[in-house]
Amino acid sequence: METLTHDIVIVGAGIAGLRAAIAAAETSDKLDIAVVSKVYSVRSHSVCAQGGTAAVMREGDSYDLHAWDTVKGADFLADQDVVEFFVRKAPEEIVLLEHWGCPWSRTEDGKINQRPFGGHSFPRACFAADMTGFHEMHTLYGKAKEYDNITFHDEWFVTSLIVEGGAVAGLTAIQLKTGKMHGIRAKAVVMATGGYARIYEFTTFSHTATGDGMAMAYRAGVPLKDMEFIQFHPTGLVPSGILITGGARGEGGYLINAKGERFMKRYAPEKMELAPRDIVSRAETTEIMEGRGIEGPYGPYIALDLRHLGEEKINERLPLIRDVAIKLSGVDPVEEPIPIRPAAHYSMGGIHANIRTETPVAGLYAAGECACHNVHGANRLGTNSTSDCLVFGAVAGEQAAKHALSNGFRELSQDKLLAEEKRVFDEILGSEGDERVPVIRAEMRRVMSENVWVFRTGDKLQTALKEIRALKQRFKNIRVEDKGKLFNTGLVEALQLDFTLDLAEVTIASALARTESRGAHTRRDYPKRDDENWLKHTLAYYTREGPRLEYIPVTITKWHPTARKY
Ligand code: FUM
Repeated sequence: METLTHDIVIVGAGIAGLRAAIAAAETSDKLDIAVVSKVYSVRSHSVCAQGGTAAVMREGDSYDLHAWDTVKGADFLADQDVVEFFVRKAPEEIVLLEHWGCPWSRTEDGKINQRPFGGHSFPRACFAADMTGFHEMHTLYGKAKEYDNITFHDEWFVTSLIVEGGAVAGLTAIQLKTGKMHGIRAKAVVMATGGYARIYEFTTFSHTATGDGMAMAYRAGVPLKDMEFIQFHPTGLVPSGILITGGARGEGGYLINAKGERFMKRYAPEKMELAPRDIVSRAETTEIMEGRGIEGPYGPYIALDLRHLGEEKINERLPLIRDVAIKLSGVDPVEEPIPIRPAAHYSMGGIHANIRTETPVAGLYAAGECACHNVHGANRLGTNSTSDCLVFGAVAGEQAAKHALSNGFRELSQDKLLAEEKRVFDEILGSEGDERVPVIRAEMRRVMSENVWVFRTGDKLQTALKEIRALKQRFKNIRVEDKGKLFNTGLVEALQLDFTLDLAEVTIASALARTESRGAHTRRDYPKRDDENWLKHTLAYYTREGPRLEYIPVTITKWHPTARKY
């Protein structure tokens, strides 16, 4: 098998991956850095981030206030030392993007504009209309292209992480246009592969959000942390699930039920529509379950009313969502409310990593949504994600560079490379079974949507675990129709499904074990937060029989858990 060699390989070319590449390249021009992405870099899912990037930029706001909002939003499961670091670094990232040419929306006097967002007690979301991720991505990509020592391997699908003696040795990846598998030797690897919300059907996420990096790290022995905490965004467009940014509520939009009521007054009387997402999604689901949803051809929904904002403001601040609502829902928000309901949006959990983005495997770093540095705890605040990608992307790039400058390559064992080639091409592509990827994938999404959604119970989680395990068995009997190698998207989808089945299993097992309600994890059978027993992080380790769970404490610096009211 042909083997490439790079000092640092960054897997994923979204905001975190690009930021990591720039930070590594700035650390040393002697390092050979590669960014490997299964799509063209600027098509990574980060382009879909809309509403903004949270950072303290103004008088009246403070690091402590941003940190407190984040910790309270997290239902006290965030590690407060990491949060304090995060909020201090975020403004530096905004200024860097400004210098690199990001077209931020401006105030009348030319400053970077900031809008209110759910759970933040100060308007601190820097934004570029409602295409913040798109503009950040293009700014970072342009900057990354300035460095001669960054190579982009676009449309390469990474299949496994290879660890030797507790340290990174490299990866295996298929170059999609040739269909050939390659080994990639690396001194350091940064996982920046994003989330896995595609385990659900109704999601704001791209079809590419299949958690590949999380699953690869898990299989290589790295624990996944806090995977029970999945965020449901309150405003997924009906019927597609495409994101309607929380910025729409930040700009003053209302949520209305079938009676025309702004029902948030019953759930979060002070913050109303600008309560954190876990609370708004529970409120919407309750309205629907209690019969106050609006009936529509795709089931009951909630209305997001922007009409009072007026056409000029909608066009200036929210042009993308107007376009998307017209094209994909047939509704012009200037004239009619937008049909929405909660959609799977974000994973608070991910690859176990510390404040320096280090994982338990030497030379392996993780950044962005695939990582869990314990900033978001049980529920992330809107616009803290792109800040997280920037802050921890930069840290991961610097740390990977330091590691690569002071360590050699590990041997990339031919046995492991050949075993991976056999797994992918003989056992999956070569399988002549009678199960189909789209069928198993649809079943997985149904199981997750019916049993592991906004409200959960032990019985439903048990059912889900059993059903996902049965699907994993069925996957062994898979058949990919296209047996060719060139750009085999059927094979890619099979590999992605295999990854997501592992992640679904970890999510359910972690949720089943956590017998309390905290943040986005709401158990009907355990409706209260239980700090005495559950103020701790879940770690899930891979075993052949399924995840083995362990727990580690939460770091509290100055904010002790209190009742969470908005
Ligand atoms: O609503 C939004 O624009 C999403 C932002 C986020 O997830 O941070």
